[in-house]
Amino acid sequence: MTHDTSTTFTRLVGCRLAIQLAPIGAAGQGPQLSLAVAGAGGHAVYPAVFLSAAELSDDIDRLRAATGAFGVNFVVPLLDRECLEIAAHRAPMVDFFYGDPAAELVEIVHRGGALASWQVGSLEEALAAVDCGCDVIVAQGTEAGGRVRGRLELLRLLEQVVPAVDVPVLAAGGIASADDVAAAFAAGADGVRVGTRFVAAEEADAHPDWQRALIDADSSESVITRAFSAGVPDFPHRVLQRSLDGVKRIHSQTVGSVLTRDGQRRTLPRYCSDVVSRDFEGHVEAMPFYAGLSVGRVRAVMPAAQIVAELAAGVPATQPAR
Ligand SMILES: Cc1cc2nc3c(=O)[nH]c(=O)nc-3n(C[C@H](O)[C@H](O)[C@H](O)COP(=O)(O)O)c2cc1C
Repeated sequence: MTHDTSTTFTRLVGCRLAIQLAPIGAAGQGPQLSLAVAGAGGHAVYPAVFLSAAELSDDIDRLRAATGAFGVNFVVPLLDRECLEIAAHRAPMVDFFYGDPAAELVEIVHRGGALASWQVGSLEEALAAVDCGCDVIVAQGTEAGGRVRGRLELLRLLEQVVPAVDVPVLAAGGIASADDVAAAFAAGADGVRVGTRFVAAEEADAHPDWQRALIDADSSESVITRAFSAGVPDFPHRVLQRSLDGVKRIHSQTVGSVLTRDGQRRTLPRYCSDVVSRDFEGHVEAMPFYAGLSVGRVRAVMPAAQIVAELAAGVPATQPAR
């Protein structure tokens, strides 16, 4: 018998399961991973970072042809206005991270007809995002892989944010198992956002050495640093310690290269923040292997649909009304 797993979040965005694929940079681009998560009943947030307007447009076309359960993510200091307008008009949701909530950006999203979501690291930021008109809040704890915004562990942050806002709250940071999902729901979350675990999905465009490192590592190897910030603002981020060791061992100014969509090779500087995709050539051990504290529970590369199903076992059958 299937039980009702709907929440205020799933009803708002129109998906079956309150399991959201986090934007995970290039590892989530080319929409196969998003399509797999949405196809399995979850919600996918597609990373717009470093895409041209034409590339983002194509990707949104492919997503729209298959699902309505997706959003497009922008890292605010790297935001491209043309891409934002495209997403606001053509995606069902636009999600922001790493900038103070801005009513002007939320208005652009709503004018285009999309829902607005903001990933926050503190109660103050959550309240500001709601004041700006956001429809969904993602509360990110310090356990999170990739860029880390706040200073509080997830459950402490949820304790503050959940009772203070009247929009759905997703929990992000360190979630990789059904038990983690259950703990987030018990703390009042309406759903979860998961990044690191999906880097080890078969459909992710993640370098196999990075995926293998995630499987091998335990949580104590995930560390916060500002080191991988060449050419971008130096936000704190969580990577495996072995990446910091690896980058110190190389002495060239460049670390390697990746393929662009038009078939050129783009050279990457040492300490670059780029997510390491399958087509990377060079010193892979010196690239940032982003990993949240959830990394200890990443045990195998598996199809995204299987990951969604495993996580969904932690979603309680009925939600208390909020
Ligand atoms: C490889 C990687 C890249 C990420 N890139 C982004 C990004 O471009 N935009 C964003 O809002 N969040 C980004 N994040 C953070 C996620 O939104 C989310 O907070 C995080 O993955 C949750 O923690 P977890 O990795 O332990 O599941 C990234 C996370 C990872 C692991």
